[in-house]
Amino acid sequence: MTIKRIGVLTGGGDAPGLNAAIRAIVRKALKYGYEVFGIKNGWLGLIEGDIEKLDLDSISGILHIGGTFLGTSRTNPYKKENGVQKVLDNIKKFKLDCLITLGGEDTNSVSNKLSKESIKCVGVPKTIDNDISGTDYTIGFDTALSIATDAIDKLHSTAVSHHRVMVVEVMGRNTGWIAILAGLAGGADVILIPEFEFDFDEIINRIKERRNRGKNFSIVVVAEGAKPSLKAEQIIKSKEVDEFGHVMLGGMGKIIRNRLKEAGYEARDVILGHLQRGGKPTAFDRILALKLGAAAVDLVKEEKFNRMVVLRGTKIIDIPIEEAIKQIKYVDKDLYELSKIFY
Ligand code: F6P
Repeated sequence: MTIKRIGVLTGGGDAPGLNAAIRAIVRKALKYGYEVFGIKNGWLGLIEGDIEKLDLDSISGILHIGGTFLGTSRTNPYKKENGVQKVLDNIKKFKLDCLITLGGEDTNSVSNKLSKESIKCVGVPKTIDNDISGTDYTIGFDTALSIATDAIDKLHSTAVSHHRVMVVEVMGRNTGWIAILAGLAGGADVILIPEFEFDFDEIINRIKERRNRGKNFSIVVVAEGAKPSLKAEQIIKSKEVDEFGHVMLGGMGKIIRNRLKEAGYEARDVILGHLQRGGKPTAFDRILALKLGAAAVDLVKEEKFNRMVVLRGTKIIDIPIEEAIKQIKYVDKDLYELSKIFY
C-alpha cells in the first residue's frame, strides 16, 4: 500500500454538509486502514503546519452540524510568501501521502496546481453557490436553497399585511442558482440573477401590472451579483479583495428598493447574507456529502489522483479537477424564462 496517510482540508466559504463529508472520509479511510489528518483552516493549516490526527472520536456527533469543525479560510498559498514551499514542506513533515480537498473552484484550483508539483489530490465539490460545472450539485447548495425559500415564505406575510414590495437579496456572486430556484420555489414575482441583465422599468411595470390585478404586494428576489447591464460593475460592500481576487458583494437589493420607492411603492429590502450558509444541513446535503466523502476515499484506494468526485444525475463519478472547475456553471435561459411567467 503506497498510501498510508491522508490529509483532509476544507477551504473557502463554509457550507452545511462539510462535517458530514469529513465524517464519511474518516470512517471509510479508517476501514481501509489509512491514517487521517485534519488540516485546520484550509490551505492556511498546511502553510502553518496546523494539523492533527483524526479518529472516530474526532468525528462523533458532527453529522447534523453546519460549518466545518476543521475551520476554513480563503488563504491561497500561491499568494503568500513561500506559501507553496511551506505547503510542500509540511506535507513532507507530516508524511501526508495525499490530500482530500473539500472546496469550490478556488480551493480546488490550488489542488490542481499542486498536482502539477506531484502532490496527490482528490477534490470534493462544495459551495452554496452551486456553480461548479463538473457536478449537478455541490455540498451546501440544497441547504442554502431551503433557507432562502423559507425566508421568502416568511417575507410574504409582511409583504401581504403591509401591501409592500419586499426585495430579498440572496448570495450568488457570478451565478443565480439560489436566487432562481428559491425565487421559483417561494413564488417570487421578479427574479434577478447575474447571468441576465435587467431593466428597472420592467421590474416596476410588473409590480404595476400586479397592482392592476388587485395584488398589492410583491416579492423581488435578487442575487447579490446581479446587475442591470452585463457590462456594469457589480455592487460591492467592500473593495477589499481576498487572496483569490474576490470583492465582497452586496447592495443591489437596496438600489432596487430605492427605485421602487421613487416610483411610489412602499418597499423594504432584506439581505439574507450568511444566514444562508448557517445551521443544519438538509438530508439531501448530508447524503450527498456522505456519498462524495466515501467516493473520495475510494479514489485514494484506487490511486486515482488529481480528480474530483462529482454528482451526475443520481451517480457519483470522478473527473479531472481541471475539467470540473474549468468553467462556471451558469443558470440556463430556459430556467430564467420560466421565472418570467409567474407574475
Ligand atoms: O462562495 C460562497 C459565498 O457564500 C458567496 O455566495 C458569497 O459571495 C461569498 O461566499 C461570501 O463570502 P464571505 O463569507 O467571505 O463573506
